[in-house]
Amino acid sequence: MQTPRTIAIFGATGSIGRSAIEVAVASEKRQKVVALSGHSHLELLLRQAQLLKPRWVIATNLQKAKAFDFSTLPPETELLLGEESLNKIAQHPEVDLVLTAIVGSAGLQSTLSAIEGGKIVAIANKEPLVMAGPIVTEKARRTGATLLPVDSEHSAIFQAMKSGRKEEVAKIILTASGGPFRNCSKKDLSKVTIEEALDHPTWKMGSKITIDSATMMNKALEIIEARWLFNLPAEKIEAVIHPQSVIHSFVEFFDGSVIAQLSPPDMKLPIQYAFDYPDRKEGVAKKVDWSTAFSFDFFPPDSDRFPALRLGHEVAKAGGTAGAVLNAANEVAVEQFLSGSMAFDQIVPTCEAILKNHPFEKNPSLDTIIKLDRWARCELGPQTT
Ligand SMILES: NC(=O)c1ccc[n+]([C@@H]2O[C@H](COP(=O)([O-])OP(=O)(O)OC[C@H]3O[C@@H](n4cnc5c(N)ncnc54)[C@H](OP(=O)(O)O)[C@@H]3O)[C@@H](O)[C@H]2O)c1
Repeated sequence: MQTPRTIAIFGATGSIGRSAIEVAVASEKRQKVVALSGHSHLELLLRQAQLLKPRWVIATNLQKAKAFDFSTLPPETELLLGEESLNKIAQHPEVDLVLTAIVGSAGLQSTLSAIEGGKIVAIANKEPLVMAGPIVTEKARRTGATLLPVDSEHSAIFQAMKSGRKEEVAKIILTASGGPFRNCSKKDLSKVTIEEALDHPTWKMGSKITIDSATMMNKALEIIEARWLFNLPAEKIEAVIHPQSVIHSFVEFFDGSVIAQLSPPDMKLPIQYAFDYPDRKEGVAKKVDWSTAFSFDFFPPDSDRFPALRLGHEVAKAGGTAGAVLNAANEVAVEQFLSGSMAFDQIVPTCEAILKNHPFEKNPSLDTIIKLDRWARCELGPQTT
């Protein structure tokens, strides 16, 4: 029997993290979870540790962790506190693969650490690529780290790309469900409530990405993610509305052939693809039911009602500091919407205004990116976290 691939799940208590645990548990010992991290859901983190008996548990929120009783952790599990512990585990020789499933810019440092350690890095946390795509991919090139996309669209593109050579790709087309407000007028969008925005028609995800899907900022972030992950110019990246969320993306080659990847909307499949890569194995992800009738729809996106897409293209084209500023402004705007202090239809215009006002740099260092991330957050006022 093969030695199991050892896996660290950063953000184990979130939507992706929980699915990843299901995938690893069902893997018939092909994978062994050796590290789990959680931030505020420590009760859940403890239960996950009791189930999996990992070598390490990392509680990243120091304040909450110090007040929590971890005395029933399994004896073989070591408790580590604080975000810096992620960096140590990301590079530990006993870890083969790191799944980055922390939400937002909070995952930047640990993603970079895993890449620095030359690991297989399964990337769900897209925001570090949006913020610092060229730094991330250049580091991976230098250290030999393998970057495997877990975002379903990027996993689909990664798989479809294998049908031809990179130089033969005419364009890639990311599919988007269109979110809950696909058919809403601009007037309706100004009245969207928090509950309505959190009610996604096809995917069950964490709250930040659910709001991003509703504004279509998620697709904007994915356009930027694809720009860096596949090293394609922004002009070669398009998006199409596909409400069923079964076709996860397309690659169109120069001869006109279009290759797609299909599967029911279930993140367990791209997670499993990354965990087993380069093999394909039986797993827990839902499969297409070919015994029932179904059809697919496609619509061109409406960038008048959903300006985020245009913004995503502009930022993918501009590169430099634009991604970090857009990402930071969006994180704060989403937080403000979720706390009731910003209207839904103001999220994207607010991000655009901050982006326009920022001191753009074409080839920023990581320090500059972090400085501008902070600047954009300050522009939007006091933080809630
Ligand atoms: N959900 C999906 O279907 C999906 C699909 C594609 C891509 N993604 C991407 O995957 C990432 C995770 O998404 P999600 O939906 O799983 O989010 P989520 O459910 O909100 O989970 C986020 C995870 O990050 C942890 N976390 C939050 N703040 C943190 C901080 N400051 N430091 C360290 N850890 C922190 C959370 O811990 P606590 O819960 O313990 O606070 C939780 O484990 C995002 O970047 C998202 O864009 C998600």
